[in-house]
Amino acid sequence: MENNANIQEYLNRAREIVEERSKKADRPLTFCVNTFGCQMNARDSEKLRGMLLEAGYEPSDSEASDFVLYNTCTVRENANNKVYGRLGYLHGLKRRNPNMKIALCGCMMQEDTVVEKIKSSYSFVDLIFGTFNIYKFPELLVSVLESDSMIIDIWKEHKDIVEDIPTKRKYPFKSGVNIMYGCNNFCTYCIVPYVRGRERSREPKDIIRECEALVKDGAIEIMLLGQNVNSYGNTFQHKVSFASLLNDVASISGLRRLRFMTSHPKDLSTELMDVMADHSNICPHMHLPLQSGSDRMLAAMNRHYNKKRYLMLVDQLRQRIPDISITTDIIVGFPSETEEDFLETMDVVEKVRYDSAFTFLYSKRTGTPAASMEEQVAENIAKERFNRLLERVQKIGSEQSLRFVGTKQSVLIEDTNKQDKNLVTGRMMNNSVVHFPASSDLIGKEAEVKILESKGFYYIGEMV
Ligand code: 5AD
Ligand code: SF4
Repeated sequence: MENNANIQEYLNRAREIVEERSKKADRPLTFCVNTFGCQMNARDSEKLRGMLLEAGYEPSDSEASDFVLYNTCTVRENANNKVYGRLGYLHGLKRRNPNMKIALCGCMMQEDTVVEKIKSSYSFVDLIFGTFNIYKFPELLVSVLESDSMIIDIWKEHKDIVEDIPTKRKYPFKSGVNIMYGCNNFCTYCIVPYVRGRERSREPKDIIRECEALVKDGAIEIMLLGQNVNSYGNTFQHKVSFASLLNDVASISGLRRLRFMTSHPKDLSTELMDVMADHSNICPHMHLPLQSGSDRMLAAMNRHYNKKRYLMLVDQLRQRIPDISITTDIIVGFPSETEEDFLETMDVVEKVRYDSAFTFLYSKRTGTPAASMEEQVAENIAKERFNRLLERVQKIGSEQSLRFVGTKQSVLIEDTNKQDKNLVTGRMMNNSVVHFPASSDLIGKEAEVKILESKGFYYIGEMV
């Protein structure tokens, strides 16, 4: 592929420059990539890390590095504020290190107002690029290394899907795999379709090939990634459903665990539920964003389902996969939300009894239809509802977690415990976190663990 030849050429050129500067500085040059936001960004960061490694930089966790890259998120306003807050700190580091380059990429950079602000107030930034041209990073890297002025390369739409970008997985034992990019749903509060572009799916054969290679390379767990995996394949001439793709990936010999994110309720099929029920290596977990339980709000959000249908999907899931963990996203304070609307959301929470829920205060995103809706909800009212909701979802979540106490679970060990070095931390098939005593040599392996105690958000267990 021509694109890949280009990637390699630029990486070689970057490596020459990095080697030369590292000789001059008499130390290896380091890089640090910090990711904000979702699994998509986390996966993009693995590609960016892979390319920086090939360019001859050494990895570091410290932002006092020679190449610092922020992969940004803009889904809510506070995500943007975090980035601005940290840029000041990076500027201080850059003043002390003449080799230091600062780069920004990701969803936030697809907004014109953000780029304007960085140009005017953060002129020490060396490189800005967006979500559509990650595969051009090697070329941009060479330009940045050869120039002293700010380089900006933002595309408004995607061009090709480029396969086989050098990638450095954060964990050798698990990996995300993109199955599609972008989103066509235009939920009225959401900025994602504007910053990630139109939906496009990767070819099934490319996905299967990548998954097979990961399994050969020792990956135990794969997570298929898309803004809305349930509409996978809709843009192909010969339709391929997500259910059939999932079935094919689950059938890869040696794949121990398969997850996926995120499912939009509007096109969650019973065919998909059947595939989940059929394969013991598909994790019994469904993240099914509710957003609101009010039919009026759901219509205003452009979600294309109502409360009744959502509850029916949950019933169908539980009939087929009895112990399934169901998690969700909920927005509080969408424009014109009344107490009655909010109580409908609370009612769904009571009926579904989620294992856990991410709750968000509605955040106004410029350019989305909801931003110009009248009747924005007052902050104090939204906050009060938010607190009521949070209290209930936490209480219900900890009650739900009790059902696994006393059971034996397969746990994939991911890390040593941050507080107690004698403990390791891992995840059950349903994605719950478990801490238990074991040697850190077991990181990346599966263990049979008896669940002894629930602490609400996590469990304490012992190996059996
Ligand atoms: N305000 C608050 N929450 C939002 N989300 C997306 N856009 C907004 C917004 N403008 C939430 C949704 C989505 C999750 C990833 O982020 O709940 O499912
Ligand atoms: Fe945003 Fe809706 Fe697309 Fe999810 S499905 S990314 S909430 S527009």
